[in-house]
Amino acid sequence: RSVSRGLGDVYKRQVKNYEKMSEKAAALLFAQITLKPDAVLGLATGSTPVGTYRKLTELYRAGRLDCSHITTVNLDEYLGLSAGHPQSYRSFMRKNLFDGIGLSADRTFFPEIPESLSDCRKNTSTSIVGIRNETIQDVETALAEACRRYDKLLRSLGGTDLQLLGIGRNGHIGFNEPGDTFIRNTHTVMLAENTRQANARFFSSIDDVPTRACTMGIGGIFSAKKILLLANGAQKAQALQAAFCGPVTPQVPASILQLHPDVTVIADEAAGQLLADGLSARRKPTFAVP
Ligand code: F6R
Repeated sequence: RSVSRGLGDVYKRQVKNYEKMSEKAAALLFAQITLKPDAVLGLATGSTPVGTYRKLTELYRAGRLDCSHITTVNLDEYLGLSAGHPQSYRSFMRKNLFDGIGLSADRTFFPEIPESLSDCRKNTSTSIVGIRNETIQDVETALAEACRRYDKLLRSLGGTDLQLLGIGRNGHIGFNEPGDTFIRNTHTVMLAENTRQANARFFSSIDDVPTRACTMGIGGIFSAKKILLLANGAQKAQALQAAFCGPVTPQVPASILQLHPDVTVIADEAAGQLLADGLSARRKPTFAVP
């Protein structure tokens, strides 16, 4: 309905509701795959892109979309859930997109948490309990290696052609949580308590939500030629406003997107309600010293 230009190259499109947001996002992904059948797509999990994935699946079923040559890299994965766990992000992607578009597992990538670490149920910033036959230091070394491998993979793919993002209520992208600094590389992270609470809806209780995850860093996200950020619902309005109308600060990780040369934001009316004036008023990013 309204399209405005502002904040460097952030391009904002406000749509009526979740359905319209999903249609527009699927149309962009469809165009990307049509233009470049072997595109590398950076993908997100969570509730936001589910409708987009459904639309892509419908296009595939209608014989209009060939995904056989695309490669996908996901933003993040929980630590402490096996790959086959129903709430792992790998399972999520299989159920919500990959199975529906006939994408074979060897074209889909996630941070690879070694199987021997997948039994860990709980962890804190300094210790991990529930790991058999591994010292904490061995575990940390293996995790750091898994993170390095993911960055190496991203480099070998030449970055992503298009990165799809949601946004956390606290302004996170991937699991880059608010903090004192932007972290460039793939890394493990303690999930913010409000992130765990927000994600508890997928688990039987908050105690089952992992406390830690592995996420692509800001550098990996910025390897994308184009970024498409989706947001729906009033609970995202403040995060969107802080990300695109406030200063660039690691306290609002999504705010760094103001520096990327090609970002499109598709927000529904509820999520975009605080953006309207801010986007047109401000042309250049400002910075907050952390
Ligand atoms: C998911 C991810 C997260 C989500 C964000 C919003 O892979 O990286 O940043 O995009 O937490 O989640 P939903 O869409 O469930 O509101």
